[in-house]
Parts: sequence; C-alpha cells; structure tokens
Amino acid sequence: MIDKIKEYIGEAEAFTTENKEELEAFRIKFLSKKGILNEFFAEFKSVPNDQKKEFGQVINALKTAAEDKVKGIVELLESREEAKGVFGDLTRSAEPVIIGSRHPISIVKNQIIDIFANIGFNVSEGPEIEDDWHNFTALNLPEYHPARDMQDTFFIQTNPDVLLRTHTSSVQVRYMENNKPPIRTISPGRVFRNEAISSRSHCIFHQVEGLYIDKDVSFADLKQTLLYFTKEMFGKSKIRLRPSYFPFTEPSAEIDIYWGLKTETDYRITKGTGWLEIGGCGMVDPNVLKNCDINPDEYNGFAFGVGVERIAMLLYQIGDIRMFYENDVRFLEQFKASI
Ligand code: PHE
Repeated sequence: MIDKIKEYIGEAEAFTTENKEELEAFRIKFLSKKGILNEFFAEFKSVPNDQKKEFGQVINALKTAAEDKVKGIVELLESREEAKGVFGDLTRSAEPVIIGSRHPISIVKNQIIDIFANIGFNVSEGPEIEDDWHNFTALNLPEYHPARDMQDTFFIQTNPDVLLRTHTSSVQVRYMENNKPPIRTISPGRVFRNEAISSRSHCIFHQVEGLYIDKDVSFADLKQTLLYFTKEMFGKSKIRLRPSYFPFTEPSAEIDIYWGLKTETDYRITKGTGWLEIGGCGMVDPNVLKNCDINPDEYNGFAFGVGVERIAMLLYQIGDIRMFYENDVRFLEQFKASI
C-alpha cells in the first residue's frame, strides 16, 4: 500500500493545469471527503503496528503534496486574473510599435555637433530668454548702436532688459565668462527675430555658433575650419567668404556655399545663383574678449554662426522654411530613414 501512496505522491507533484475545472477535479480526487487521502486515513487502523510510522509519514507527504499543488495553482490563476485587470491580456501577441521620426532640424543639428566634436569642440547651451548684456552689450553692441537694427528683437513685456535671444552668440559670452582659454565650443539653439515670415526666413529659427579662443589664432584657421565643416556636411567645400560687418568680429565675413543648380528647389533656395549664404563669421573683436575678462593682448580667436534651417533645406531639398514648423506628419515621416 505504501508503494501505491508513493505513486499518488508522484502523480500529485506532476499534476499541472491552467484550467479551473481540472483543478477542482484534482482537489476532489485527493482532498475531498470521499477522496483518496481519506480512504488511506481510514485504513490506518488496519496497518500493522511496525508499519504505522512509515505509513503515517507517506500519507502526510501525500497530503502536503496535494494541498501545496492546489494552493500553488490557485495563486497562479488569481495573479493572472489580476494582471489581466491591470495590463489587459499579457499572453496576447504584441501590436507593432509605430516609431516616430526625428525632426530634420534635430538631425542636421546633431550632424553639425558630431562634425565639430571630431575636431575637439564641446557643446554649450544657454537660456532662450536673455538679458541685454549677453545678447548685445557684451558683444560690442552698446545701447543705441545702429547695428542693433540688424536683428529685430522680441522684447518681453515692457522691460527692455528681457528679450528673446536673437542669436546664440549670447551663449558664447556666457561661456567666456565662465571658462578660461583655450576655448573650443559650439552653441546650438533656437533664436528669435521679429522678421516677416516668408519661404526663406522665419521669426523662429536655429543656429549653431562656434567659438575658438587661443594664442595666435589666424583667419586662415577660421577658413580651414569652415572648409572642413562644409566638406563633412555637404561632401564638397566650395565656399566664399564675403566681407561683411558684425560688431563682435573684426574682420567679418558672410559664409556662402556653392551648392549648384541641379533641381528646381536649388533655384528657389539659392535665388537662381547656386550660392547660398549659410552664416557669418570673423575674428573676435578685442572689446568682446575684454568684456568677458579675457586679455586680448594674450589671446585672440574666431567665431562663426550657421543657420540650421538653411543647411537642412539644401540637404533635403525643402523649398519652404515654413514646412519645418507645421508638424505635418506627411512631411515629418519622410525623415524616418535618416535617424
Ligand atoms: N551672430 C551672428 C548672427 O546671428 C552670426 C555670427 C556669429 C557672425 C559669429 C560672426 C561671428 O547673425
């Protein structure tokens, strides 16, 4: 009989189900009033004395095995039910996840950051709401300076000291105030100008400005850096530096890139010339260094700023700058492959 009980222990231990009815049948078979266990208990009396001890042990083992099994399965089934309530059916196969796409401005911005990171530039960021000092005065643009007209400014409320930054040169001022040369940093960010919106310009756009301050820096270093950048960015580096004026650099130049006239969009973006101005640059004016506590007799350097939208328009053949801000998914979805 002991062998028979041991067989039942094996059966109880091996039992498994995810079905409540089968579990109930198991319970009735082993643990109910007329179940196997009670039958064995009833026979206890007739077992010879010398076997009673072993008989007692195996029958108890069978009881524990059957009870544990029922308890375990009940708990498992209950936890499934709870999970269903909270998470839905966890056994259901997954639905495909629809992945969004990165915005073309972010793609190009990250590319620019990577290109300059390769030659040792770090990234610095600053606030979009600026004060007069960092956006203008420290950059050699004192109050009433006519060059302030070059960048029509959004002022916040009536306080002329609180404004939306018109360029990320403000971040370069902050960086120079807090770091000693040698400095190699680029400042990507969103900027704001109170300009009429058209297919080529917008009142909100993005810039990446660069700053390099060290001993004996020359204009040739600036040009070489820009050539490297355009080569990496566009795969070609035909650029033109047109003499220009910025209060914070001397000498100053506009950066034009020759893109060519292969498509109708090229005609549109470059106004039929094949050339597109992508930013400005120059040697940092000694007054700016002085304003940031850097000795201009010891250090000098160059700065540049490029427009991210302009570059993205060329690379992705986007004929109208307003497309970047409309968040039309049909437009955005086209950049899935560029992540
Ligand atoms: N800050 C200038 C602008 O926004 C660009 C620039 C940067 C020009 C650095 C020269 C040097 O127009």
